[in-house]
Amino acid sequence: MNQKAPVIIGEYHFIPENLPSDGQFRLMFLPIDMTAYWRRCGLTANFVAGFYSYCYEESESKINSLSTIINELLENATKFSKVKDGKIKVELKHYGNLLKIDVLNVASKTLRDSFELFVSKIILEKVEDMYFSTLETKEDSDTKSGLGLLMLLKDYPVRFGYSFQEIDADTHEITVRAIINVEEL
Ligand SMILES: Nc1ncnc2c1ncn2[C@@H]1O[C@H](COP(=O)(O)OP(=O)(O)OP(=O)(O)O)[C@@H](O)[C@H]1O
Ligand SMILES: [Mg+2]
Repeated sequence: MNQKAPVIIGEYHFIPENLPSDGQFRLMFLPIDMTAYWRRCGLTANFVAGFYSYCYEESESKINSLSTIINELLENATKFSKVKDGKIKVELKHYGNLLKIDVLNVASKTLRDSFELFVSKIILEKVEDMYFSTLETKEDSDTKSGLGLLMLLKDYPVRFGYSFQEIDADTHEITVRAIINVEEL
């Protein structure tokens, strides 16, 4: 089967693909694992952040920042997954002070298209402007307020890259890649 080349947006290749990492770590689960107990997103994020805190100078605020970033990516991967054939993969690699976090989920064509549009806009527009205009139009009860990623970009030193890979017409693998220099956290 011929697969289409993925669409890559943002700083996905900030770290060259062939650079050997100093350490690596992988997790895989189903969206249902998280939706059954939402607290698991936070637990997983805390665990992963704690695991990496031993690679560099341990500081409570660095671990918290890392956990916040990972938690947002896990929540998104869970919320926007296809229920059927949904798998979520988390892969972390570190290169000295640089930490690369990949979170992959499987989404429908509609969700893929709207996310692709959203991230293309993030690249072009000022994050602060987008953040405040989204905040103004937000309803209090929204669970999909569209603020999570903008908040991360606004408040944390994180570079994002995105990969969109079509598997079939309504099945798309989305990888959100966060690259963080832990010195800057
Ligand atoms: N992993 C993903 N797969 C598919 N679509 C995504 C993914 N992550 C984000 N999106 C899309 O991008 C939009 C913005 O994501 P963001 O995290 O900023 O907001 P949100 O999750 O909707 O709300 P909030 O994070 O404020 O609770 C989402 O509404 C969704 O449409
Ligand atoms: Mg979110």
